[in-house]
Amino acid sequence: MRAIQVGLIGFGTVGTGVVKILQQNAEIIEKRVGRSVVLSRIADLDVKTDRGIKVPDGILTTKVDDILDDPDIEIVVELIGGHEPAKRFILQAIERKKSVVTANKALLADHGEEIFEASFKSNVDVGFEASVGGGIPIIRSLTEGLAANRMTSIMGIMNGTSNYILTRMTNEHRDFSEILQEAKREGYAEADPSLDVDGIDAAHKLAIMVNLAYGTPVRMSEIFTEGISKLSTVDMEFAKELGLTMKLLGIGKLREQSIEARVHPTLVPTGSPIAQVGGVYNAIHLVGDAVGDVVLYGKGAGSLPTASAVVGDIIDLARNRVNQVSCRVPPTSFQWEQRQAIPIKPMANIESMYYLRCMVKDQPNVLSKISGILGAHGISISSVLQKGRKAGQTVPLVILTHRSQEAAVQLALQEINALPLISEPTTLLRMEEME
Ligand code: HSE
Repeated sequence: MRAIQVGLIGFGTVGTGVVKILQQNAEIIEKRVGRSVVLSRIADLDVKTDRGIKVPDGILTTKVDDILDDPDIEIVVELIGGHEPAKRFILQAIERKKSVVTANKALLADHGEEIFEASFKSNVDVGFEASVGGGIPIIRSLTEGLAANRMTSIMGIMNGTSNYILTRMTNEHRDFSEILQEAKREGYAEADPSLDVDGIDAAHKLAIMVNLAYGTPVRMSEIFTEGISKLSTVDMEFAKELGLTMKLLGIGKLREQSIEARVHPTLVPTGSPIAQVGGVYNAIHLVGDAVGDVVLYGKGAGSLPTASAVVGDIIDLARNRVNQVSCRVPPTSFQWEQRQAIPIKPMANIESMYYLRCMVKDQPNVLSKISGILGAHGISISSVLQKGRKAGQTVPLVILTHRSQEAAVQLALQEINALPLISEPTTLLRMEEME
């Protein structure tokens, strides 16, 4: 029987992992697909560097058209990342009725609608399991395994680099910049780590998941995004005493007729599964109305874990080809014509619990002034912690609130920060209870 031929665009870290898996697990893949799956072309601008893996003579090329123009290649894998030329290659492949696999979260978050529309119109499969959570099967969980549910919440650690840095800051009580420098030297952070540490990478992934979970497109500009670079170990110490752990979370919640979509440092109960996730691991906590809580945990990056997701998609799309079906599972999870634009709540309207660290003069009546302002804005305090006793000097006063509206908290903070007894702007962190 004729093999299913695959063309790979991008022979980098993940591409190398894909080649390894397709070679090492060829037999088991054939048993699962019903036909052999063969990598017939690899396109990359650099065909000279030794990637530590042997590929058959003549399959490397610097010309993407050797893949796109080849009528025998049925599945195109895009692993170059970024917007262009990746988008053009994907749209050309779809136009030529080739199934597409991509790990490109930035492209899907920013231009997913164009690609999904092309997929629907041409009835061509697009797989993108590797775009979120590396090797964790989150996309398939949302589109298939949990498809019976009305999803109510998606919350999780979606970026391994920032989780690695936060874990070390928490455990070693050392500052962000120090750990970041070490993480770069150790290869855990890119030379330009901004996509990871500024929360943008997590926001890309959240945009993709919210789209699938709720059947609505989400623009990146609608996702409130705050990174980890301004976090202080002082707050991590206080958090520890309060039974809380700091994580960079992506949060997508369905609240009646609107959606909360936000990425920011978040304090979570230290006993919750998400708080236990250390290093470069990812974990995504989903809540569905029928299934209840589901936590998916695993390696969110790396050559073989990410390639595992890519090859899983290749197998899925190859099976469709063998069975002569396509788009059995819509890439958007919801049927294209059944999707509805659900408004994303402005950040000012979200509700959260808050951790406030005020730097105050240690003198009588301070707490009553601050709690008075919070009370006047309808914000209820759940606990207060003051460490140290330095009469007349500055000390940290930590206040935890019950669930309150963001806009009210921001207004209260403006008033608090204007008090003469406050020596520096108050630190605000959001807290989530994990159901
Ligand atoms: N840069 C990402 C992370 C991995 O640190 O999680 C790829 O999505």
